[in-house]
Amino acid sequence: MTTGAGQAPSQPRTFYDAVGGEPTFRAIVARFYELVAMDDVLRALYPEEDLGPAEERLGLFLMQYWGGPTTYSDERGHPRLRMRHAPFAIGGAERDAWLRAMRVAVDEAALEPAHRDQLWEYLEMVAHNMTNRPG
Ligand code: HEM
Repeated sequence: MTTGAGQAPSQPRTFYDAVGGEPTFRAIVARFYELVAMDDVLRALYPEEDLGPAEERLGLFLMQYWGGPTTYSDERGHPRLRMRHAPFAIGGAERDAWLRAMRVAVDEAALEPAHRDQLWEYLEMVAHNMTNRPG
C-alpha cells in the first residue's frame, strides 16, 4: 500500500501543527511579553531585566505541551510549574493581569475559534493553579 509520493504514513495531527506550529506560539509569547513589559503589576514580578529568556522558556514550554518539539524539557527538565512559580507572589491581581495580557496575545493570533477556546481553557486552568497567595 502506498501513502502517496514521498509522504510519511499519516499520523494524528497535533494541536501544535493544527495552529501553525512554532511561528504561532512565538507570536503569542512575543506579544504577551510586550504587554508584560508595559504592565506594572506583572513587570514587578519578573526578576530579569531582559524578558527575552522568560519569553523563550514560556514559548518552548507551550510548544512542547501542545505536541511540538521537546526542547523545553531537554533544556529545563521536568516543568514542575507550581514549584517554579512558588518564589513569585501570585495572588488574584497578578493572575488576572497575566490572563488579561495573555488573552490579548491569544486573540491577536487569530486561531480558529475551537483552537482558541481549547488553548484559552488550558491557560486559565493553569493560571488558577499557579495562584499561590490569598487575595
Ligand atoms: C497566574 C499567573 C502567572 C504569573 C504571574 C506567572 C509568572 C511567572 C514568572 C514571574 C516566571 C519567572 C520568569 C522566568 O524567569 O521564566 C514564570 C515562569 C514560567 N511560567 Fe509563569 N506565571 C503565571 C502563569 C503561568 C501559566 C498559566 C503557565 C503555563 C501555562 C506558565 C508557565 C511558565 C513557564 C514555563 C515558566 C518558566 C519555568 C522555567 O523553566 O523556569 N506560567 N512565570
